[in-house]
Amino acid sequence: MSEKLWGGRFAKSTDEMINDFQASIGFDKRLYREDIAGSLAHAAMLAACGIISREDEEKIAAGLKAILRDIEEGRFSFDVALEDIHMNIEKRLTDAIGEAGGRLHTARSRNDQVALDMHLYVRREVAAVAEHILDLQRALAGTAAKYRDVIMPGYTHLQRAQPILLAHHLLAYFAMLGRDFDRFAGVWQRADIMPLGAGALAGTTFPIDREFVARRLHFERIYGNSLDAVSDRDYILEFLAAASILMVHLSRLSEEIILWCTREFSFIELDDAHCTGSSMMPQKKNPDVSELVRGKTGRVVGHLMAMLTAVKGLPLAYNKDLQEDKEGLFDAIDTVKFSLAVYARLLRGMKVNREIMRRAVDEDFSNATDLADYLAKKGLPFREAHAVAGRAVQYCIERQKWLKDLTTEEFRALSPLFADDIREAISPEACVKNRNSLGGTSNAQVDRQLEAAEALIESGAKLVADWESRLPEIG
Ligand code: ARG
Repeated sequence: MSEKLWGGRFAKSTDEMINDFQASIGFDKRLYREDIAGSLAHAAMLAACGIISREDEEKIAAGLKAILRDIEEGRFSFDVALEDIHMNIEKRLTDAIGEAGGRLHTARSRNDQVALDMHLYVRREVAAVAEHILDLQRALAGTAAKYRDVIMPGYTHLQRAQPILLAHHLLAYFAMLGRDFDRFAGVWQRADIMPLGAGALAGTTFPIDREFVARRLHFERIYGNSLDAVSDRDYILEFLAAASILMVHLSRLSEEIILWCTREFSFIELDDAHCTGSSMMPQKKNPDVSELVRGKTGRVVGHLMAMLTAVKGLPLAYNKDLQEDKEGLFDAIDTVKFSLAVYARLLRGMKVNREIMRRAVDEDFSNATDLADYLAKKGLPFREAHAVAGRAVQYCIERQKWLKDLTTEEFRALSPLFADDIREAISPEACVKNRNSLGGTSNAQVDRQLEAAEALIESGAKLVADWESRLPEIG
């Protein structure tokens, strides 16, 4: 039987199966850096407040740093009987330095300890996810710039609608990711609040200095209510919500990539190194990355649902249910970072079939709106212009022609307002160039978006660097 740190009031040791069931060490060991950083700050505060001696603090700090090295160098064996990362570290510390180790947990509970660890961890991972978002944005903007002049059909209802620039399409995803970045910045703000000092739930009888700990760990704010501090998982819910929305964006992009590399579309070609084949059908080249990202979206959304459901009926303050906040979050973090990184690589290796995209607008009626706009600009009410253009399309379908194939006479038979310049007005280049309203697909508007994109990436990178400078250094 291994001695529990809380064993005092127990006459029996924990049933082995129950122990396995309630332990979290299998997954919360990934909090070891945060746990040690938190304990270092806590011990320094206890000493500064005269609650423990300087000598004890020095022993604790040296002991914790040795444990950090042991863990990083793979010399630390985690014991499931010690339940979680907090008690694994504390037990090892006490074994190593004796009495002083036993003083570390003064004025602290695992409830505020785990809350502190998770706040530190979420801040760190928000910075990491944000960096990945910026890199995918760079890849999107880079691809958009590289194929700046490529025209493709824009779709509604997955039916060809109006010609657009491929760059415009890609920059729509850039914009979604920009909002994802902002959502994660919001998560940083909500996670940037220091819970330690709440004790188990009600505060502590010791004369602690919570500002000291907040300063040391670079937290902007401190929880003003101890019950809230140990019960709050909003910032985790928000992380999962932001991650879910981000994954939904990647999933939509995935769906398009998958469509675009079908034989039917053939708009793009993915790098051979980014696809897989079939064990049976020799011709296959499958877009697995996109399919997997689309599939993994369900997992991340599931983690959000699981956590919302876990929290919804909980009374204040800590309940063990809250231990369930970790696995889903950890998996969401891994999934989101991996998906973003893989997508940046996929886009950088992607080739665009300009000719096929071009043919899809040349041999199509996606310029019909422009035909109607032409007439409306000559004074015909748009509703009537729409009807004339509809008749023109029908006329073409019956004769197996495109609008660009009609002679001026054929156009004039449909409306006397047509003149020789009509064919030029409905060329794909004109269709694109003339949609110059703010945020439209015109070359000028897309150039503006590309310029703005650069500035956005730059300011995003500055913000992330600021966050990173506020992550605690240990070791
Ligand atoms: N492993 C626990 C968790 O992750 C730490 C807090 C335990 N607190 C307690 N009172 N049992 O939630």
